[in-house]
Amino acid sequence: MTRITAPVREWASDFDVLDPAYLADPYRIWDELRGTCPIAHSDRRGSNWLPTRYDDITAIAHDIEHFSSLEVAVIPFEGEEPDDPILPYGLPPISADPPLHTWTRRLLLPWFSHRRVEGYERLTRDLCTGLVDGFLGDGRADGAADYAQQIPVRVIAHILGVPSDLADTFTGWVRDVLEFADDPERRARGVTGLIEYFVAEVAERRAHPGDDLLSELLHSEVDGVPVEDSIVLGAAALVLIAGVDTTWSAIGSSLWHLATHPDDRRRLASDPALMPLAVEELLRAYAPVTMARLVTKDVEFAGCPMRAGDRVLMNFPAANRDPEVFDDADHVVLDRAHNRHVAFGSGIHRCAGSNLARMELRVALEEWLRRIPEFRVAGGAEVAWAGGQVRGPRVLPVEFP
Ligand code: HEM
Repeated sequence: MTRITAPVREWASDFDVLDPAYLADPYRIWDELRGTCPIAHSDRRGSNWLPTRYDDITAIAHDIEHFSSLEVAVIPFEGEEPDDPILPYGLPPISADPPLHTWTRRLLLPWFSHRRVEGYERLTRDLCTGLVDGFLGDGRADGAADYAQQIPVRVIAHILGVPSDLADTFTGWVRDVLEFADDPERRARGVTGLIEYFVAEVAERRAHPGDDLLSELLHSEVDGVPVEDSIVLGAAALVLIAGVDTTWSAIGSSLWHLATHPDDRRRLASDPALMPLAVEELLRAYAPVTMARLVTKDVEFAGCPMRAGDRVLMNFPAANRDPEVFDDADHVVLDRAHNRHVAFGSGIHRCAGSNLARMELRVALEEWLRRIPEFRVAGGAEVAWAGGQVRGPRVLPVEFP
């Protein structure tokens, strides 16, 4: 069961990122904290720090000596850890520090290079066109469930070489792990589902290798030594987990913005050349991903006494709204020229899939706007947002002429 905590009254000393007020409108809370207590603290869900300033967040991201990636889950796992885990290294490279981080990241990067990503664009565009075909005649759709949610999981399935008709099953597992992380039963179900699936797939690829990511990882060597199965399993599961909720949330939030801001929608629909800058600006304003770091040794950071074992929530979304770095930070400026946003993180763990994410977001918006340039949130409908590790709309009913 989801653990409901008491409503938050003091954001500076007792925050909860799953509080309904934070899920609905975190921007107001960050603005308030930046002005009063830029690094908040809370003892709910363990001892956690929540920085809100760009400079603090990027400095922590670069200080891997004090801030480790061995625990990156925003909501700590509270179930029983198995004595002999199948994934002793978690999901490298995201859950690893150097040296493991360095070589596992290097194994994944080629799969998401500009050249490779160009090769996935046709598939993505066809997928988007087919989805729009499915609801165009209805005059209404759920922009989250019927569109955004359907795209990244199928592209990732293609890259991993697993069947895309399992898309709903994959999405269910990923949501269990990320979105329902404070429900130990659901989280365990998602983790078990993913691991058991990939264990079986690894056995299959050993016998019948293909030209997909999973097969290539299994047959790769580092310094002449074959890569362990547990690393392959962790990296493959990471690609699915990192590539699904994140991108779908970015597509969904962007559609929500366009549904609720007619001027921006018309401007973008009539000027497709604006798209690359608009994609960056929508990523900045609605950055979906918060990560965690584990404090490795006592350190005083910006006046805050952080203790070994505390956790820091890497609030990349709040960094992107810091008015000291971005003029008019709470306002979407589609053609913003200076935009050093950190939606994809900063430092050694910067997103390995950012080329893919950008392409998917651009193509999803292009195909939607090309066919549905006019749309709005359906009258009387409620939009539901998920939050915690990944923020984005999960229910987004829209209507169009
Ligand atoms: C809009 C969509 C996305 C956003 C906002 C996003 C955001 C992020 C962020 C903030 C990190 C840094 C984690 C940290 O500092 O601990 C990260 C890491 C990572 N992302 Fe993404 N991501 C997105 C899409 C993707 C996609 C499509 C993939 C590929 C399948 C992907 C794969 C990864 C991987 C493998 C890492 C770990 C890199 C490392 O630890 O060195 N991401 N992502």
